[in-house]
Amino acid sequence: MTTTTAPSPVLEASGVTMRFGGLTAVRNVDLTVNSGEIVGLIGPNGAGKTTFFNCLTGLYVPTEGTVSYKGTVLPPKPHLVTSAGIARTFQNIRLFANMTVLENVLVGRHTRTKEGLWSALLRGPGFRKAEAASHQRAMELLEFIGLAHKADHLSRNLPYGEQRKLEIARALASEPGLLLLDEPTAGMNPQETRATEELVFAIRDQGIAVLVIEHDMRFIFNLCDRVACLVQGEKLVEGTSEVVQGDERVVAAYLGTPFEGAPGADELAEVEAAEASGAQSTTSTEGKAQ
Ligand SMILES: Nc1ncnc2c1ncn2[C@@H]1O[C@H](COP(=O)(O)OP(=O)(O)OP(=O)(O)O)[C@@H](O)[C@H]1O
Ligand SMILES: [Mg+2]
Repeated sequence: MTTTTAPSPVLEASGVTMRFGGLTAVRNVDLTVNSGEIVGLIGPNGAGKTTFFNCLTGLYVPTEGTVSYKGTVLPPKPHLVTSAGIARTFQNIRLFANMTVLENVLVGRHTRTKEGLWSALLRGPGFRKAEAASHQRAMELLEFIGLAHKADHLSRNLPYGEQRKLEIARALASEPGLLLLDEPTAGMNPQETRATEELVFAIRDQGIAVLVIEHDMRFIFNLCDRVACLVQGEKLVEGTSEVVQGDERVVAAYLGTPFEGAPGADELAEVEAAEASGAQSTTSTEGKAQ
C-alpha cells in the first residue's frame, strides 16, 4: 500500500503567527519539511527566522497556528517538543561553559534515558547500565563531529567553531527525527563552514531531516533541497535553490529595495503618498524615499 521511498512530512507548520504587542514578528507562515530533506530558511536580519524557530520548539506559544511533528500537533512546551523528536541549536551558543565537552552531550541525552529518580539516587544496576550506554552514545556522537579527542576539555575552552559543532552533538544526543540549526556557521572560517556542510549532509544521511537558518548563501544553496525566504515575518518565496536564487524579490529584500507586493509595501506607499502630497509644491514625485 505505501511506497517505501515516498517522502512523508516530518514537520508541518500551519498559519504560524507570532505577535509581540504591536509587532507581528511572524505572519501566517506555512512550512513543511519532509523526511530526507534539508530545507533552508533565509531572510534579512529581523525577518523573524529565530522567532519562527522559537514557535516551532515551544519556546514561544504562537499567537495563531499549529505545529505538527509526524502528523501529531505539538504542545508548545520545549521538553515535550524535544521528547517528540525535534532538537535545535541556538543562534547564541548555549553550552554549559564549566562542564566538559562530554558532559554537555550527556545533558542532551536526558530526554532519552528512562531511568527515574530513585534509580539514579540508588545507583542500582539498571542506572549503571543506562549510564554506560549514554556514555557510549555520547562518545559516538563526539566521534561523529570530530571532537572525541577533546571529550574532557571544558567547553568554554573550545574555539568558537568547535562550540558550534558541540551544540550540534548535544542536539543529536536527544535522537531527533528533525534538527533545527540557527546560523550553524556564524563566526566560522571557510574551511569550518565547508566541514559543517559535510556534517549536515551526513546528519541527513542518517535519516534526520534538517531545517537550517543561515546568512551564508553559498552554504544554503549548496546544501538545501528547498529554501524559504522570510521578509518582515512573511514567507515571500519558497522553492529549489535555483528558483530562490533567481527570484528578484529575494535579491531586492536583501538589498532593501522596495518592490511591488513586498510585505510592508502598502504602508510604505501610504507614507510616500502622504509625504508627496505634503511636499507637492517642492520637487514633484522624483524625490522618493528609498
Ligand atoms: N521576545 C521578543 N519580544 C519582542 N520582540 C521580539 C522578541 N523576539 C524577537 N522580537 C522581534 O521580532 C523580530 C524578528 O526577530 P528575529 O530574531 O526572529 O529575526 P531573525 O530573522 O532571526 O534575525 P537575524 O537574522 O538578525 O537573527 C525583530 O523585530 C525582533 O526585534
Ligand atoms: Mg535570528
